[in-house]
Amino acid sequence: MNFKEELKHYQEIVNKELEKHLRDKKCLEGILNESMEYSLMAGGKRLRPILVISTYSLFKKDIEKCFSFAVAIEMIHNFSLIHDDLPGIDNDDFRHGKLTNHKKFNEATAILAGDGLLNNAYIVISNDIKQTSDSKELEKKLQVFNEFTLAVDRMIAGEYVDTEYEGKKISAEDLQYIHENKTGALLKLCVRMGAILAGANREELNILTSYAEKIGLAFQIKDDILSEEGDEKILGKPVGNDKEQEKCTYVSEYGLEKSKEILEKITKEAIEKLEIFGDKAEFLRDLALYIENRNK
Ligand code: IPE
Ligand code: IPE
Ligand code: MG
Ligand code: MG
Repeated sequence: MNFKEELKHYQEIVNKELEKHLRDKKCLEGILNESMEYSLMAGGKRLRPILVISTYSLFKKDIEKCFSFAVAIEMIHNFSLIHDDLPGIDNDDFRHGKLTNHKKFNEATAILAGDGLLNNAYIVISNDIKQTSDSKELEKKLQVFNEFTLAVDRMIAGEYVDTEYEGKKISAEDLQYIHENKTGALLKLCVRMGAILAGANREELNILTSYAEKIGLAFQIKDDILSEEGDEKILGKPVGNDKEQEKCTYVSEYGLEKSKEILEKITKEAIEKLEIFGDKAEFLRDLALYIENRNK
């Protein structure tokens, strides 16, 4: 399989797994469940669960063992997107080429759909842990669960600082803090979850963590660039909104050209980190390039 086919294959796996967790739409809170499904199944790239699974498969073939964590992180991601789009945060009307959750339903529903997805992620993980009897497996899952909660905490903190800095001047250091937290923390978590669950040793885990930190930052720099010069139709979300809302981004701080240079440099460094894994890490290398060159 070439990279594109493998990416698609992984996306299909993730979508199938997510479908198993959709909720009843005929109960009293049916519309709430519908709104969670609306966002969760709207057509995201599934990058985070794919990072979990593809990192896991660097070491082991039984990838289904990490599916609960892959599903849970995609739920968290969609919670973050629903809330990020709310009027009180970024006030955006479109996501994935469709109306944002609060535009399609209403604000109350969108707030609660975000809450619901956040908690559903923890339901999925705790159910998995409850069914784990092997003590070594259990130990790994508890470590991963702890890191999961801490990464979500960082994402929320990063989102807060992002909104706090709207319209203000920011230092390069604080800008990096925002990016590392609001976006980097979850991407780093994904790689670490895959590695820890698959039993990576300390050195392997450290190397993969540095790879993840780099692609995490690269991912948000690219998001900033796309908000400046992306194609709205392909992107499925507004272009020009960062500027309009006076967001602190790599583009506002460094300009477009310099941001692209930084992006290229970090991507190269990410790829270099993977050297010790040889051919096995080809997908993760290609994924770094995909993040650099994506148009959505
Ligand atoms: C968008 O993430 C939000 C950021 C953290 C920049 P994605 O680009 O991964 O979102 P999907 O693919 O639409 O789900
Ligand atoms: C999104 O940041 C980060 C999270 C949702 C945690 P942005 O606000 O920059 O992302 P988009 O451009 O709306 O996807
Ligand atoms: Mg935002
Ligand atoms: Mg936003």
